[in-house]
Amino acid sequence: MSDRREAALRRLGIVPGVAELVRAALDDAVGRAEAGRGAEGAARGTEGAAPPAVVVLDAGCGRNSALARYRARIGRFVGVDIHEPAPGALPYLDEFAAVDLCESSDAFPPATFDVVLSSFTVEHFADPDAAFANLARWLRPGGSLVITTVNRRHPFVAAYLGMPDGLRRRVQPVVKATAADAHPLVGACNDPAALREALARAGYDDIRVVTVGHLARAWRRRLPAFALGLVGDLLARGIPSRRSTLVVTARALGPAS
Ligand SMILES: C[S@@+](CC[C@H](N)C(=O)[O-])C[C@H]1O[C@@H](n2cnc3c(N)ncnc32)[C@H](O)[C@@H]1O
Repeated sequence: MSDRREAALRRLGIVPGVAELVRAALDDAVGRAEAGRGAEGAARGTEGAAPPAVVVLDAGCGRNSALARYRARIGRFVGVDIHEPAPGALPYLDEFAAVDLCESSDAFPPATFDVVLSSFTVEHFADPDAAFANLARWLRPGGSLVITTVNRRHPFVAAYLGMPDGLRRRVQPVVKATAADAHPLVGACNDPAALREALARAGYDDIRVVTVGHLARAWRRRLPAFALGLVGDLLARGIPSRRSTLVVTARALGPAS
Protein backbone atom coordinates (compact mmCIF):
# COMPACT_ATOMS: atom_id res chain seq x y z
CA MET A 1 0.00 0.00 0.00
CA SER A 2 1.24 3.53 -0.67
CA ASP A 3 2.85 4.95 2.44
CA ARG A 4 0.46 7.92 2.33
CA ARG A 5 -2.64 5.69 2.39
CA GLU A 6 -1.21 3.56 5.19
CA ALA A 7 -0.25 6.70 7.14
CA ALA A 8 -3.79 8.09 6.71
CA LEU A 9 -5.30 4.85 8.07
CA ARG A 10 -2.98 4.98 11.07
CA ARG A 11 -3.80 8.64 11.75
CA LEU A 12 -7.49 7.73 11.67
CA GLY A 13 -6.95 4.96 14.22
CA ILE A 14 -7.60 2.02 11.87
CA VAL A 15 -4.99 -0.11 13.57
CA PRO A 16 -3.74 -2.69 14.06
CA GLY A 17 -3.98 -4.12 10.55
CA VAL A 18 -4.78 -7.76 9.83
CA ALA A 19 -1.14 -8.41 8.90
CA GLU A 20 0.07 -7.27 12.33
CA LEU A 21 -2.51 -9.40 14.13
CA VAL A 22 -1.69 -12.46 12.04
CA ARG A 23 2.01 -11.97 12.63
CA ALA A 24 1.45 -11.83 16.41
CA ALA A 25 -0.74 -14.96 16.24
CA LEU A 26 1.82 -16.86 14.16
CA ASP A 27 4.74 -15.72 16.37
CA ASP A 28 2.85 -17.25 19.28
CA ALA A 29 1.81 -20.41 17.38
CA VAL A 30 5.27 -21.15 15.96
CA GLY A 31 6.92 -20.37 19.32
CA ARG A 32 4.54 -22.76 21.11
CA ALA A 33 5.19 -25.47 18.54
CA GLU A 34 8.95 -25.13 18.96
CA ALA A 35 8.61 -25.24 22.73
CA GLY A 36 6.34 -28.31 22.53
CA ARG A 37 8.69 -30.19 20.20
CA GLY A 38 11.67 -29.10 22.33
CA ALA A 39 9.99 -30.54 25.44
CA GLU A 40 9.33 -33.81 23.56
CA GLY A 41 13.02 -33.92 22.57
CA ALA A 42 14.05 -33.37 26.19
CA ALA A 43 11.76 -36.21 27.30
CA ARG A 44 13.45 -38.50 24.73
CA GLY A 45 16.90 -37.34 25.86
CA THR A 46 17.69 -35.50 22.59
CA GLU A 47 17.90 -32.08 24.25
CA GLY A 48 20.43 -29.81 22.57
CA ALA A 49 20.11 -31.61 19.22
CA ALA A 50 18.99 -29.74 16.07
CA PRO A 51 16.26 -27.10 16.58
CA PRO A 52 12.76 -28.61 16.60
CA ALA A 53 11.27 -28.97 13.14
CA VAL A 54 7.86 -27.34 13.12
CA VAL A 55 5.33 -28.75 10.62
CA VAL A 56 2.86 -26.26 9.15
CA LEU A 57 -0.06 -26.18 6.72
CA ASP A 58 -1.35 -23.22 4.73
CA ALA A 59 -4.94 -24.34 4.14
CA GLY A 60 -6.19 -22.55 1.01
CA CYS A 61 -2.73 -21.24 0.23
CA GLY A 62 -3.55 -19.26 -2.94
CA ARG A 63 -0.50 -17.28 -4.03
CA ASN A 64 0.76 -15.75 -0.72
CA SER A 65 1.44 -17.06 2.75
CA ALA A 66 2.03 -15.18 5.99
CA LEU A 67 3.84 -18.35 7.12
CA ALA A 68 6.61 -17.80 4.54
CA ARG A 69 8.45 -15.41 6.87
CA TYR A 70 8.91 -18.33 9.34
CA ARG A 71 10.49 -20.55 6.67
CA ALA A 72 13.83 -20.87 8.49
CA ARG A 73 12.03 -22.28 11.56
CA ILE A 74 9.82 -24.71 9.62
CA GLY A 75 10.84 -28.32 9.00
CA ARG A 76 7.98 -29.20 6.66
CA PHE A 77 5.81 -26.56 4.96
CA VAL A 78 2.71 -27.89 3.16
CA GLY A 79 0.21 -25.87 1.12
CA VAL A 80 -3.18 -27.07 -0.07
CA ASP A 81 -5.75 -25.45 -2.31
CA ILE A 82 -8.46 -26.47 -4.73
CA HIS A 83 -6.45 -24.73 -7.46
CA GLU A 84 -2.95 -25.86 -8.53
CA PRO A 85 -0.43 -23.00 -8.35
CA ALA A 86 1.60 -22.04 -11.41
CA PRO A 87 4.93 -23.93 -11.51
CA GLY A 88 7.44 -22.25 -9.17
CA ALA A 89 4.85 -19.81 -7.82
CA LEU A 90 5.19 -20.88 -4.17
CA PRO A 91 8.95 -21.43 -3.69
CA TYR A 92 8.67 -21.50 0.13
CA LEU A 93 6.54 -24.69 0.12
CA ASP A 94 8.02 -28.17 0.54
CA GLU A 95 4.83 -29.77 -0.78
CA PHE A 96 1.62 -28.73 -2.49
CA ALA A 97 -1.51 -30.92 -2.59
CA ALA A 98 -4.74 -30.22 -4.45
CA VAL A 99 -7.27 -30.70 -1.64
CA ASP A 100 -10.84 -29.55 -1.10
CA LEU A 101 -10.77 -28.84 2.63
CA CYS A 102 -14.52 -29.42 2.90
CA GLU A 103 -14.20 -32.96 1.53
CA SER A 104 -10.79 -34.64 1.71
CA SER A 105 -10.72 -35.86 5.31
CA ASP A 106 -7.95 -38.40 4.61
CA ALA A 107 -5.59 -36.00 2.83
CA PHE A 108 -3.20 -36.16 5.84
CA PRO A 109 -2.80 -38.54 8.79
CA PRO A 110 -4.20 -37.36 12.12
CA ALA A 111 -1.91 -35.11 14.21
CA THR A 112 0.36 -34.12 11.30
CA PHE A 113 0.66 -30.34 11.81
CA ASP A 114 1.73 -28.03 14.62
CA VAL A 115 0.26 -24.90 13.02
CA VAL A 116 -2.48 -24.37 10.41
CA LEU A 117 -3.10 -21.00 8.76
CA SER A 118 -6.33 -20.43 6.83
CA SER A 119 -6.19 -16.92 5.39
CA PHE A 120 -9.34 -15.53 3.74
CA THR A 121 -10.64 -18.98 2.83
CA VAL A 122 -13.50 -19.62 5.28
CA GLU A 123 -15.86 -17.34 3.33
CA HIS A 124 -15.45 -19.72 0.38
CA PHE A 125 -16.15 -22.96 2.28
CA ALA A 126 -19.28 -24.82 1.17
CA ASP A 127 -19.13 -26.91 4.38
CA PRO A 128 -17.16 -25.07 7.10
CA ASP A 129 -17.99 -27.71 9.75
CA ALA A 130 -16.32 -30.40 7.63
CA ALA A 131 -13.31 -28.18 6.90
CA PHE A 132 -12.79 -27.25 10.56
CA ALA A 133 -13.14 -30.91 11.62
CA ASN A 134 -10.54 -31.95 9.02
CA LEU A 135 -8.11 -29.27 10.20
CA ALA A 136 -8.70 -30.25 13.87
CA ARG A 137 -7.92 -33.89 13.02
CA TRP A 138 -4.76 -32.97 11.07
CA LEU A 139 -3.49 -30.73 13.91
CA ARG A 140 -1.50 -32.24 16.76
CA PRO A 141 -3.32 -31.99 20.12
CA GLY A 142 -2.68 -28.44 21.34
CA GLY A 143 -1.70 -27.33 17.82
CA SER A 144 -2.73 -23.85 16.67
CA LEU A 145 -5.23 -22.74 14.05
CA VAL A 146 -5.05 -19.14 12.78
CA ILE A 147 -7.92 -17.88 10.62
CA THR A 148 -8.66 -14.62 8.87
CA THR A 149 -12.02 -14.12 7.20
CA VAL A 150 -14.71 -11.53 6.50
CA ASN A 151 -17.45 -10.52 8.95
CA ARG A 152 -20.94 -10.33 7.49
CA ARG A 153 -22.04 -8.17 10.43
CA HIS A 154 -20.36 -5.30 8.58
CA PRO A 155 -23.01 -3.86 6.22
CA PHE A 156 -20.64 -3.62 3.22
CA VAL A 157 -19.54 -7.25 3.69
CA ALA A 158 -23.17 -8.36 4.06
CA ALA A 159 -24.08 -6.47 0.87
CA TYR A 160 -21.12 -8.00 -1.02
CA LEU A 161 -21.91 -11.55 0.14
CA GLY A 162 -25.61 -11.04 -0.59
CA MET A 163 -25.17 -9.78 -4.17
CA PRO A 164 -26.48 -11.92 -7.00
CA ASP A 165 -23.51 -13.75 -8.57
CA GLY A 166 -23.71 -11.77 -11.83
CA LEU A 167 -23.54 -8.40 -10.06
CA ARG A 168 -20.74 -9.57 -7.76
CA ARG A 169 -18.73 -10.70 -10.78
CA ARG A 170 -18.96 -7.13 -12.12
CA VAL A 171 -17.90 -5.61 -8.75
CA GLN A 172 -15.03 -8.02 -8.07
CA PRO A 173 -12.58 -6.53 -10.63
CA VAL A 174 -12.90 -3.16 -8.86
CA VAL A 175 -11.95 -4.47 -5.43
CA LYS A 176 -9.73 -7.46 -6.26
CA ALA A 177 -6.11 -7.29 -7.49
CA THR A 178 -6.70 -9.74 -10.34
CA ALA A 179 -9.44 -12.03 -11.65
CA ALA A 180 -7.48 -14.92 -10.09
CA ASP A 181 -8.37 -13.51 -6.65
CA ALA A 182 -12.12 -13.62 -7.31
CA HIS A 183 -13.40 -16.95 -5.96
CA PRO A 184 -17.00 -18.08 -5.41
CA LEU A 185 -18.28 -16.86 -2.05
CA VAL A 186 -20.54 -18.69 0.40
CA GLY A 187 -20.11 -17.02 3.78
CA ALA A 188 -21.78 -19.85 5.71
CA CYS A 189 -20.33 -18.98 9.12
CA ASN A 190 -18.97 -15.49 8.68
CA ASP A 191 -19.78 -13.68 11.87
CA PRO A 192 -18.03 -13.81 15.25
CA ALA A 193 -20.63 -15.96 17.02
CA ALA A 194 -21.15 -18.42 14.16
CA LEU A 195 -17.43 -18.92 13.69
CA ARG A 196 -16.82 -19.39 17.41
CA GLU A 197 -19.63 -21.97 17.61
CA ALA A 198 -18.43 -23.84 14.51
CA LEU A 199 -14.90 -24.09 15.93
CA ALA A 200 -16.16 -25.30 19.31
CA ARG A 201 -18.29 -27.98 17.54
CA ALA A 202 -15.28 -29.10 15.52
CA GLY A 203 -13.06 -29.70 18.57
CA TYR A 204 -11.13 -26.53 19.39
CA ASP A 205 -10.75 -24.59 22.61
CA ASP A 206 -9.09 -21.34 23.63
CA ILE A 207 -10.99 -19.73 20.73
CA ARG A 208 -10.20 -16.02 20.42
CA VAL A 209 -11.96 -13.77 17.94
CA VAL A 210 -10.64 -10.27 17.22
CA THR A 211 -12.39 -7.91 14.81
CA VAL A 212 -10.58 -5.32 12.73
CA GLY A 213 -11.40 -2.79 10.00
CA HIS A 214 -9.70 -4.07 6.85
CA LEU A 215 -11.76 -2.78 3.92
CA ALA A 216 -9.53 0.16 3.00
CA ARG A 217 -6.40 -1.97 3.12
CA ALA A 218 -8.06 -4.81 1.18
CA TRP A 219 -9.38 -2.41 -1.50
CA ARG A 220 -6.32 -0.18 -1.53
CA ARG A 221 -5.23 -0.52 -5.14
CA ARG A 222 -7.73 1.90 -6.68
CA LEU A 223 -8.44 5.23 -5.02
CA PRO A 224 -12.29 5.09 -5.27
CA ALA A 225 -12.34 1.58 -3.77
CA PHE A 226 -9.86 2.64 -1.07
CA ALA A 227 -12.07 5.65 -0.23
CA LEU A 228 -15.18 3.45 -0.04
CA GLY A 229 -13.31 1.00 2.18
CA LEU A 230 -12.20 3.84 4.41
CA VAL A 231 -15.81 4.96 4.85
CA GLY A 232 -16.71 1.36 5.73
CA ASP A 233 -13.88 1.06 8.24
CA LEU A 234 -14.77 4.40 9.87
CA LEU A 235 -18.46 3.45 10.09
CA ALA A 236 -17.63 0.36 12.17
CA ARG A 237 -14.58 1.68 14.01
CA GLY A 238 -16.46 2.17 17.31
CA ILE A 239 -18.58 -1.01 16.97
CA PRO A 240 -16.16 -3.95 17.31
CA SER A 241 -18.70 -6.68 16.46
CA ARG A 242 -19.34 -4.99 13.08
CA ARG A 243 -15.76 -4.45 11.91
CA SER A 244 -15.16 -6.00 8.51
CA THR A 245 -12.69 -8.73 9.30
CA LEU A 246 -12.18 -11.53 11.82
CA VAL A 247 -8.79 -12.73 13.04
CA VAL A 248 -9.32 -15.95 14.98
CA THR A 249 -7.00 -18.22 16.91
CA ALA A 250 -7.89 -21.59 18.41
CA ARG A 251 -6.20 -24.68 19.79
CA ALA A 252 -6.99 -28.25 18.67
CA LEU A 253 -8.18 -30.42 21.54
CA GLY A 254 -6.94 -33.69 20.09
CA PRO A 255 -8.57 -37.09 19.46
CA ALA A 256 -9.63 -37.71 23.06
CA SER A 257 -11.98 -34.68 22.99
C1 LIG B 1 -9.07 -15.23 -1.25
S1 LIG B 1 -8.00 -16.55 -1.61
C2 LIG B 1 -6.80 -16.44 -0.28
C3 LIG B 1 -5.47 -17.02 -0.67
C4 LIG B 1 -4.38 -16.93 0.40
N1 LIG B 1 -4.71 -17.77 1.55
C5 LIG B 1 -4.13 -15.51 0.82
O1 LIG B 1 -4.40 -15.15 1.96
O2 LIG B 1 -3.66 -14.74 -0.05
C6 LIG B 1 -8.96 -17.98 -1.16
C7 LIG B 1 -8.24 -19.29 -1.47
O3 LIG B 1 -8.96 -20.36 -0.89
C8 LIG B 1 -9.02 -21.42 -1.84
N2 LIG B 1 -10.17 -22.26 -1.50
C9 LIG B 1 -11.48 -21.92 -1.54
N3 LIG B 1 -12.25 -22.96 -1.13
C10 LIG B 1 -11.40 -23.97 -0.82
C11 LIG B 1 -11.59 -25.30 -0.36
N4 LIG B 1 -12.83 -25.81 -0.15
N5 LIG B 1 -10.50 -26.07 -0.16
C12 LIG B 1 -9.26 -25.59 -0.41
N6 LIG B 1 -9.02 -24.34 -0.84
C13 LIG B 1 -10.07 -23.53 -1.05
C14 LIG B 1 -9.14 -20.70 -3.18
O4 LIG B 1 -8.79 -21.54 -4.26
C15 LIG B 1 -8.16 -19.54 -2.97
O5 LIG B 1 -6.84 -19.88 -3.33
